[in-house]
Amino acid sequence: MSIVLSGMRPTGRLHIGHYFGAIQNWVYLQDKYECYYFVADWHALTTNYEDTSNIKKYSREMVIDFFASGLSLDKSNIFIQSKNPYHAELFLILSMITPISWLERCPTYKEMKSELGKVGKQLSNFGFLGYPVLMASDILLYNAEYVPVGIDQQAHLELTRETARHFNNIFEDDVFNLPQPLITKNPKLPGIDGRKMSKSYNNAIWLDEDLDSVKKKILTMKTDTNRKRRTDPGNPFICPVFDYHRVFSTEEEKNLIIDGCKNAKIGCIDCKKILLKHLLEFLSDFQEKRRVISNNYRDFDLDDIISKGQEKACDRARKMIDIVRKVIKF
Ligand code: TRP
Ligand code: SF4
Repeated sequence: MSIVLSGMRPTGRLHIGHYFGAIQNWVYLQDKYECYYFVADWHALTTNYEDTSNIKKYSREMVIDFFASGLSLDKSNIFIQSKNPYHAELFLILSMITPISWLERCPTYKEMKSELGKVGKQLSNFGFLGYPVLMASDILLYNAEYVPVGIDQQAHLELTRETARHFNNIFEDDVFNLPQPLITKNPKLPGIDGRKMSKSYNNAIWLDEDLDSVKKKILTMKTDTNRKRRTDPGNPFICPVFDYHRVFSTEEEKNLIIDGCKNAKIGCIDCKKILLKHLLEFLSDFQEKRRVISNNYRDFDLDDIISKGQEKACDRARKMIDIVRKVIKF
C-alpha cells in the first residue's frame, strides 16, 4: 500500500484553516493509504527557539485535535517527530549534500524571514535555513509516495525531490523514491480581515473558540468593501464571507447568496447569519467531541497514547537509516 505522510508544527492552537486546509483531507486519506502523521516539534523549534515552553503543551493539544477531527490510532500512525531519533540523523546526512543556494532561493525562506523580521523575530539562524532539509528528511525517511500539503509547501516538496535525486545520483543508488505532493484542493478560508488566516495577523477563528466570540468576529468580518449600504449591489466572488460559504453552505444557499448579493436583495448581516448557522454547528460539534476525548485521556501521557504509531514509525525509519548508512559506507 502506498505511504502517505504529513506533519504539522505545534506552534499554537489550531484554527479552522488547519482543519479544512489539511486535517480533513488527512482523515479522508487514512482509509485509503498507509498513513503517517506527525507533530513536527523540531520544526516548531526553527522559529520558536527562544521560547520553547509551550511546544510540549501544543503537541498534546494538537494530537487531541487530530482525534476530534476523526484521525484514528487504528488507521493512522500518529507520532512525534523529535521522539523518533532518525529524523535528526537523516537531517544531518542530507545537510551534507544540500547546496546552500537551494535553501537561500526557497521562496518560503525569504518570505517568512522578512515577514517575521517585521514583528521583531530574528531568523538568521542555521536551523531555519535548513528547514526544508529537515522536511525532506521527514518525507524520505519513510519513502512516502504522497505528501498532502497546502500550496504554500509546494516549494518544499520540490526541494525534497531535488534532494532525493541528488542523493541517488551521488551514491549511484535508488535509495529514495521521489514523493508527490497532494495539494489540498479545498477552497481557501481567509482570515476575518480577508488576508491569509494566521496567528500572527490576529484574524483567525480558533477550533476551540468560544461561540459568542466567533459570532462577533463573523458579524464584523470584512465583506466586499464596495457594498457600503444595503442597497449597493455586491460581488460575492471578491468577498471573504463568500469563501466561507463555499466551505460551509449548501448549493441552494450559495445560489441564493450570489443572486441576493449581486442584486442587493439580501443584506450582509443576513448573509452572515446563514454562514453562522453552519459554522457554529460545526464548531460546537467539534468542541463537544474534543471535550469527551480530552477527558478520556486526562490521566495519560501523550507518549503512552500514541505509543503504537511511534513504534511503527521508528521501526520503518530505522530500516531506512540502515540502508542509507550502508550506501554511504558507514
Ligand atoms: N512544513 C510543514 C508546514 O509548515 C510541516 C511539515 C514538516 C511537513 N515536515 C513535513 C509537512 C513533512 C509534510 C511533510 O506545514
Ligand atoms: Fe459578502 Fe454576503 Fe455581503 Fe455579498 S451579501 S458582500 S457575499 S457578506
